[in-house]
Amino acid sequence: MKDIESLEQLKVKYIGKKGLFTNLLKSLSNLDQKDKASAGKTLNILKKEIDECFNEKKKFLSDIELNKKLEHEKIDISLPTRPEKKGGIHPISKTMDDIICIMGSHGFKVEEGPHIENEFYNFTALNIPEEHPARQEHDTFYINKYKNLLRTHTSPVQIRVMKNIKPPIKIIAPGSTYRCDDDATHSPMFHQVEGLVVDKNITMANLKWIIKELLTTFFNIEDLPMRFRPSYFPFTEPSAEVDIRCSMENGKLEIGKGKDWLEVMGCGMVNPKVFKNCGVNEEVYSGFAFGLGVERFAMLKYGISDLRMFYENDIRWLQHYNFIPNGFPSLLRGL
Ligand code: DAH
Repeated sequence: MKDIESLEQLKVKYIGKKGLFTNLLKSLSNLDQKDKASAGKTLNILKKEIDECFNEKKKFLSDIELNKKLEHEKIDISLPTRPEKKGGIHPISKTMDDIICIMGSHGFKVEEGPHIENEFYNFTALNIPEEHPARQEHDTFYINKYKNLLRTHTSPVQIRVMKNIKPPIKIIAPGSTYRCDDDATHSPMFHQVEGLVVDKNITMANLKWIIKELLTTFFNIEDLPMRFRPSYFPFTEPSAEVDIRCSMENGKLEIGKGKDWLEVMGCGMVNPKVFKNCGVNEEVYSGFAFGLGVERFAMLKYGISDLRMFYENDIRWLQHYNFIPNGFPSLLRGL
């Protein structure tokens, strides 16, 4: 039997309404009363067996047909893209990949954390207690009355890492973050990269060096002027914001030149209170942390002026940037 169709025909021929076996069953009425019962019983057992045989064979044949179909529909994902349907890496992914590549070259490992966090990791452990004004500033999406929320920054990954890994720690945590805010310069979902280093004798000099490496390599400007301006974050002490030189003349933004400063990230030395909250001995260890906005980095590097373009899903916009889909950035080839 080659296919389901011929099997069905065979089934009709024997046990269909006018089938040979069905006729045999009908002819029972011609028998004597005492023969009828025993013949009927035997024929019914036989009919059941024939039914089972058909079903078994049908299952066998349909499995073969399904496998043939799957084989036919197989997609080879290693084939190159068709020129007329060319996609590309999204500028946000490209920016994250570039940052991972740069930090990876300095020995930073990538860590991830859950997007649904709770108040402890997102706020309390980061030295942002309930009555702290920073909590209100974060425009948090609360999920339920049990204090679950969408993480407002990637800093809670710091806490998870310090609670789980013994120093030395050298990680970055890229990922999406969420705040209840939506206008030309804010999106309810955006992306950050957090950095954390914890070891003995870590100082602000180490922090400054790695940030200079990151910014000069990312923007591909070797002598990029930058300044560390004193600031405040509850989880770092002292804290700073990093500005880079730029010119905004005639509405055109140029990085690395001119008279203006542009804020690009926050950073500082890990607050001993945060160490305590994570069970890290603050007498022995010190560390630094930093946090940056991926959209902002991408906008500055690729001259994107409206944040909303990132989320429009316009294929022409994506094609304009033409970041090739295959391969990961490499410092040797250039980002
Ligand atoms: N979590 C901060 C924010 O979302 C960014 C940040 C600033 C992270 C300073 C840090 C830091 O680790 O040291 O605004």
